[in-house]
Amino acid sequence: MTSKIANSSSSLRGKNILLGISAGIAAYKSPELVRLLKKQGANVQVVTTPSAEKFVTHTALQAVSGNAVRGDLWDENAEAAMGHIELARWADIILIAPATANFISDIATGRADSLLATLCLASEAPLLLAPAMNRVMWENRATQHNVKTILERGAIILGPDDGEQACGEVGLGRMKEPDQIIIEAEQYLAQSSQPASPGTLSGKKIVITAGPTREPIDPVRYISNYSSGKQGYAIALAAKNRGGQVILISGPVNLPTPIGVNRIDVSTAQEMQSEVKRHLENCDIFFGVAAVADYRPLTIASDKIKKSKSSGKNASIKLELEENPDIIAEVAKARPRPIAIGFAAETQAIEKNARDKLMAKGLDAIILNDVSKDDIGFNSDENAATIIWRDGKSHYQKQSKSSLAEVLIDKIEDLFLSQEEVPQKEVR
Ligand code: C5P
Repeated sequence: MTSKIANSSSSLRGKNILLGISAGIAAYKSPELVRLLKKQGANVQVVTTPSAEKFVTHTALQAVSGNAVRGDLWDENAEAAMGHIELARWADIILIAPATANFISDIATGRADSLLATLCLASEAPLLLAPAMNRVMWENRATQHNVKTILERGAIILGPDDGEQACGEVGLGRMKEPDQIIIEAEQYLAQSSQPASPGTLSGKKIVITAGPTREPIDPVRYISNYSSGKQGYAIALAAKNRGGQVILISGPVNLPTPIGVNRIDVSTAQEMQSEVKRHLENCDIFFGVAAVADYRPLTIASDKIKKSKSSGKNASIKLELEENPDIIAEVAKARPRPIAIGFAAETQAIEKNARDKLMAKGLDAIILNDVSKDDIGFNSDENAATIIWRDGKSHYQKQSKSSLAEVLIDKIEDLFLSQEEVPQKEVR
């Protein structure tokens, strides 16, 4: 295999990695993963679930890791290996690869009936999991529910990949390749170790809304939009890395919580409005990145709305909608009020519409995305934007949402905080 990995300045160097292996066929790749972790300079201890040994031997894992491997909670003979509390404390990160549906369920429910599950409960180290399972098992609502639960608790999910599976099916559920797991673990470590300084936002309270809202129609249906939340989450992380105290009020998204950010999950616009109000006191900067639904159904049916028996070709039903609160406009009217930065996703007359919104909502600046382009905006990892304020504008070319978050915050600091004392930034 040609490795895309360079090991000279890896963020894994010197880190204590507890590699957990649960019983999936992808465990045959685990010795390679251990080898690559060691190549990056990490210290590796391996723990398997009892049945993982059916797929990979402790002998092989011990040979590549250079350490005794443990698999049994009650194995008193494992003298050469660390005890479980010792291991839990030793780990800088816990990486579970492969993470089976069963193991993810154990983590979601807080079980402690295997050594590996016990370690995950007993450790404060960040938990990264690379799921591996049949595509139907991955898509099963029970698994998705468990994944959501652990994401909400801060776990990081790497993958799974789409492709051919050991069972012969094709779909989402393949474990990421070891070299890709290494790259993502490195990115995670690099990002989480960024110092809270230079601290250009140190001492500032920053409230950010992100993602879509869901407006229920009946118990099983809702009105929503394609917002992924990625741009809002990138801004939250960038602001936190500058030393800000960040509160992220998030609609339903499938993203891990940025480390060090205080995340509050909401579903509807009204829930988002009340959380924003609750956190507005002493807020210095408010970013309204959420794609808040402008309207919600006037009434929510208590039972699932049934198709009419007489429905023919042109049958239709009417859904009456009422306007949602304009959260950011309320923030801009509050006194005292934070610097209020809006986002505008437009498809036509884009600059004029954005400037109109800036004025109508009384914002300090609005960041404009052209969502008519497929390769940027809503679900993409990249974005281009124009920031518009009362007397000017600046355009930023297409780039990753995280780098866009950095340049946008730079600009906002220059525009609105430069009169105050902003601590000097390091050159990025
Ligand atoms: O939806 P619209 O284009 O008006 O969104 C512009 C800005 O207003 C965004 O920052 C969005 O988060 C915010 N907004 C809001 N509450 C709404 C609608 C939009 O805070 N009900």
